[in-house]
Amino acid sequence: MRARGGCLADGVLGASPLIPVDGPRSVDTSAPTVTPIVTLGVEDWRPVIPAADTERYAHELEAGAVLVLPRLTFVFAPDETRFLNVRWSDGKAKNISLDGTSIRGAAGGADDLAALARMIGRFAADATALVTALFPRYAPWLKRARTSYRPHGAAGRAVSWRKDDTRLHVDAFPSRPTRGERILRVFCNVNPFGEERVWRVGEPFEAMARRLLPAVRPMIPGEAACLSALHVTRGRRSEYDHMMLGLHDCAKSDLDYQRASPQREVRFAPGTTWICFSDQVMHAAASGQYMLEQTTHLPLDALYEPRSSPLAILERISGRPLVAA
Ligand SMILES: [Fe+2]
Repeated sequence: MRARGGCLADGVLGASPLIPVDGPRSVDTSAPTVTPIVTLGVEDWRPVIPAADTERYAHELEAGAVLVLPRLTFVFAPDETRFLNVRWSDGKAKNISLDGTSIRGAAGGADDLAALARMIGRFAADATALVTALFPRYAPWLKRARTSYRPHGAAGRAVSWRKDDTRLHVDAFPSRPTRGERILRVFCNVNPFGEERVWRVGEPFEAMARRLLPAVRPMIPGEAACLSALHVTRGRRSEYDHMMLGLHDCAKSDLDYQRASPQREVRFAPGTTWICFSDQVMHAAASGQYMLEQTTHLPLDALYEPRSSPLAILERISGRPLVAA
């Protein structure tokens, strides 16, 4: 049985070419057909924000914007700068990740790995404090998930097209169904050599879904129960999760979509933090090295505008509930 949500066209690609990008290089909000970029002057991980501003930021985030904080960076302690080296990766996992207190994907002695885990844990605490300060309405609902440290370059690794994050996609997890809960991510470019993290961002979620959903294969009866029984998924995959995986795969496997769909380039300088709902924002990591990232899940009840969520949009398009009670 396939473990993925399916794209009717999948399996046609093997290579993972870098896709050339033409487009504006500045951060602005002028193009209505692609993801808006909103710049905030926040300089502290625990800022004090007026209530009216927090509501405005949340509305922009929920509408599908990327919030960029060019003056907010994560500072390494002097004895942590040694971790700015790929040698701390075990060479197998894509990222070094911290889930609770357990660190994965890293190689080194016990003391070094404990120090690395403390550093990643400090970023997790900072990122969570930032989300709490920027969006106080979300605070009681936040479910902190994995924190990742990404010492490898975003491009150039030999990966399958499905794992090729240099292609535009929305995030969807094959083994961890969200059942409609949001995926909120905080990123920070910690590159010490002046290298920008370069993203492409794409069209709004609804436009992408209307374009690609016809290519997503229907879920097979009994598929979710089978995947769960085989422990392919942690919990039951909903039809929503199946569609999100299908959209992820259809977007990545369609090179015409990658080249011709509305998109723009965004360059995040070292020392920049940015935030988005990565289950909603079409994004591709074109280049860059050394990044920290915090994933947080958020139920729809936490949102100001649940109607703008991917679940609500996909249910409107398909005309039926996509997550069983
Ligand atoms: Fe992604």
